[in-house]
Amino acid sequence: MTTASFAIPSTLARWLDQRRQMFIGGHMVDAAGGEQLDVFNPADASQLARVPLGNADDIDLAVTAARTAFKTWRHSRPNRREKLLLDLADALEARADEFALLETLDNGKPLTFSRHMDLALAIDFLRYTAGWATKIEGRSMTPSMPAVPDGHRLVAYTRREPVGVVGAIIPWNFPLLMAVWKVAPALAAGCCIVLKPAEDTPLSALMLAELADQVGFPPGTLNVVTGLGHDAGAALAAHPGINKIAFTGSTQVGKLIAKAAVENMTRTTLELGGKSPVMVLRDANLEAAAAGAAQAIFFNQGQVCTAGSRIYVHEDVHDRFVEHLVKQAKALTLAPGTEADSTLGPLVSAKQQRRVLAYIDSARQQGGVIATGGGTGPDGGYFVEPTVITGLAQESRCVQEEIFGPVVVVQTFRDLDELVALANDSPYGLAASLWSNDLTAVNRLIPEIEAGSVWVNGHNLLDPCMPFGGFKQSGIGREMGDSLVTHYTEEKSVVMLV
Ligand code: NAI
Ligand code: MG
Repeated sequence: MTTASFAIPSTLARWLDQRRQMFIGGHMVDAAGGEQLDVFNPADASQLARVPLGNADDIDLAVTAARTAFKTWRHSRPNRREKLLLDLADALEARADEFALLETLDNGKPLTFSRHMDLALAIDFLRYTAGWATKIEGRSMTPSMPAVPDGHRLVAYTRREPVGVVGAIIPWNFPLLMAVWKVAPALAAGCCIVLKPAEDTPLSALMLAELADQVGFPPGTLNVVTGLGHDAGAALAAHPGINKIAFTGSTQVGKLIAKAAVENMTRTTLELGGKSPVMVLRDANLEAAAAGAAQAIFFNQGQVCTAGSRIYVHEDVHDRFVEHLVKQAKALTLAPGTEADSTLGPLVSAKQQRRVLAYIDSARQQGGVIATGGGTGPDGGYFVEPTVITGLAQESRCVQEEIFGPVVVVQTFRDLDELVALANDSPYGLAASLWSNDLTAVNRLIPEIEAGSVWVNGHNLLDPCMPFGGFKQSGIGREMGDSLVTHYTEEKSVVMLV
């Protein structure tokens, strides 16, 4: 198969050409209704593949398969789960180039990023999480209750048991990495999982399911149903056979999912949108801060929940900072992700491109100055230029709403109190970065910032050992670290009279 500008290697081309099926109960199957969904390459709008258009019936089959598998998987030896996850990491590493290319073709991101970020991070995360499978612990206690008959004692302890069958709904910005962020903790904890990838980027999740099957995960432990959000996704969120929903995506859809889930008291972790401030203090190294701020917004075409989409820079250094930032933006190469020099690929879809361009228009209408960018890119793909906007008011749409594109707004502040007020003036609270070597200022600011992650002299400093999640409308719950234990298990109190 050839897209307009790039010859896909034959093994992957064959995989894309074959009739793609979903993975339910250890079998590759078509959608119950027989329908299919077209999958596109956003670099040239060509059709890449077709996947099953799963709906509520397919979700039901997958949940049933997962519930059946859960009966034995929940009692599986922890070190078996650990070994299988390590084997999956090895298998993914062995085919990392192929997966990276698939991710670039489906999502648009530059191939070097797919390979050295998405794939590398997914492999690391699998290995980190594998280790948790053998480290899930309870506690023993000594109760003081008075009504213990003479000569008897109490034995009391807690157990951590897998929460059950997990439904995972993930977005299109890091398709494989988001799949692994949900699949690995669930399987490590002894849960089974039904995963619904985003309709724009379903391919790497299907290839991951094949690998999981090959390394020996038992049938039904991991199931993948492809389909639309409002159909298959909504059916998964509302299914009474699901014990926990793990969702990453927009705040708007997160709220719908939470409402559906509460009907069954299904547990939820929600990783939602963000509008993360990048705060550049007067003493900051402006060149380094501008380079960091450029990465914070332009990495992955700005389609990152933690993207640094609002910059607050001290008024004395604003103009110099903007000059550096514009230089950084202009140094990026807008090209299909498969081209070696590409540092900024297309956005994921025509819909996303339209959405982002509409935000740039709104900035023009609301008095913003486009310091650089504002347009589209190479013909045929869904490109948006790296765009820096100045002169907008705090109330403007581009400052308040999640754009999810390579568009950043630079504003000024006078003192730290004003900076805190501006940074926290957002419905979101996912992440924030501070650029300064003023220890006093930095340490005074950190506790004031309403964000689940704060980074200093860096942005997107994420690691599997650090809890990740949002304050305010950026979500509920945490991923990473020991959140695997708290969010993928139930705690049971056991008390015995002996
Ligand atoms: P979305 O939130 O609709 O999609 C995320 C996932 O949710 C997909 O798998 C989708 O199929 C599923 N979904 C959609 N509607 C659903 C429903 N009613 N019930 C259950 N699942 C459902 O995001 P979309 O529409 O693709 O992007 C729109 C905007 O959302 C973006 O511009 C961005 O601002 C935000 N977004 C934020 C993400 C983040 O990580 N913070 C990720 C993706 C989108
Ligand atoms: Mg696609």
